[in-house]
Amino acid sequence: PREHARALIDEKTRRVPDFPEKGIIFQDLSPVLADGDGLASVVDGLIYGLGDVDLVGGIDARGFLIGGAVALRLGVGVLAIRKAGKLPPPTHRREYELEYGTASLELPADGMDLVGKRVLVVDDVLATGGTAIAAVDLLTDVGAEVVAVATIMELDGLGGHERVAKHLGGDIPVTC
Ligand code: PRP
Ligand code: MG
Repeated sequence: PREHARALIDEKTRRVPDFPEKGIIFQDLSPVLADGDGLASVVDGLIYGLGDVDLVGGIDARGFLIGGAVALRLGVGVLAIRKAGKLPPPTHRREYELEYGTASLELPADGMDLVGKRVLVVDDVLATGGTAIAAVDLLTDVGAEVVAVATIMELDGLGGHERVAKHLGGDIPVTC
């Protein structure tokens, strides 16, 4: 299933030079996900070969698009891992580094029991891995077990794959 997904991703991704900053090529996956076959193929590619999952965690914002779709396909629920300031208190929070400054992700600290839950973290793109690692740490903080980090695309040359693999203690960042 991954070959079909990869072919569609290669064909349909819109590559925009110098966005959001000079020297960066923005990988816009909108045309892939707006295509019915593209969305289905990406979802199938992301879950291929995975073990048991109890819950899907989608990272704010672009990870939401596929998080719900992946969860529905797996027959489990979905959890929004939100950027700071969006969830009502109390929350758990983890900061991560951006090129300039820091950002934070949050999870609800009340109303959910995530202890022992096997969570699949999904996002669109893995770049430096900072966002994914913050999500993993948050889920670990609440007692969940992250079974994998799955992204549609990994950017080369930024060390994200290795960083996430090391953090998870195994080679479990997966991609289409
Ligand atoms: C982008 C992308 C990933 C993250 C990857 O999100 O969607 O979530 O960056 O970067 P990293 O691996 O270096 O941490 P961004 O925060 O730009 O915003 P969005 O998803 O809300 O559009
Ligand atoms: Mg994002």
